[in-house]
Amino acid sequence: MEPVEAMLVLDESQAPLSWPAVFGNSGPVEIEIGMGKGTLLRRLAALSPERNFIGIERANKYLRLAAQRIARDRQTNIRVVRTDAVYFLETFVPDESVAVFHIYFSDPWPKRRHAKRRLFQPPFVQLLERKTALGGLIHIRTDVEWYFADMVRLFETETALAIRDKGTLDAAALPREMQTNFEIKYRATGKTIYALTLLKGVCGGDRPV
Ligand SMILES: C[S@@+](CC[C@H](N)C(=O)[O-])C[C@H]1O[C@@H](n2cnc3c(N)ncnc32)[C@H](O)[C@@H]1O
Repeated sequence: MEPVEAMLVLDESQAPLSWPAVFGNSGPVEIEIGMGKGTLLRRLAALSPERNFIGIERANKYLRLAAQRIARDRQTNIRVVRTDAVYFLETFVPDESVAVFHIYFSDPWPKRRHAKRRLFQPPFVQLLERKTALGGLIHIRTDVEWYFADMVRLFETETALAIRDKGTLDAAALPREMQTNFEIKYRATGKTIYALTLLKGVCGGDRPV
């Protein structure tokens, strides 16, 4: 099998993207925002070869490392893209086309003067809702309690997404290989991890896609 070029090159004249054209199949698409080195993304993709995965990361160093590892392991169901997540979702992602979003340990920017840099703001949660497929899920984890409370409030006030799970996440509930690099680091220092799962409801049921 030929190695796949994992790096997705963006061209606005081709927007929005067609997932079947990107992946060569019509499997469901999952997106991780701020994937870092892509450790968990690569594991998720290996566990579900019938699904397709996009990793968004704006730090070039991490992105290149992830792309090299994906090529080394000949993983054909992952693409990574170096860009800002909001721009990518707004410009390239078709509405209601994403089966699952993963957003783990998003930077909290705790200082008041940096608050506008936080990803979780009203327009972002509304964008997530719009891009999620009916029956789709959004998984979030953070180690920052006040940011977690902010996220919950934002989804409750700004979207019609249903909260499926909300609370602390025990290490015992999640094997180490399903944790992100930051999560492993934070757990080692005894930090509490908070997790939130949202569902975009479908009429007559709430089956995940
Ligand atoms: C705290 S790190 C967490 C990395 C990884 N999710 C983990 O848990 O190990 C947050 C990552 O999100 C990326 N990031 C933050 N805002 C972003 C944005 N708007 N678009 C793309 N990547 C972003 C950062 O570059 C950084 O690598």
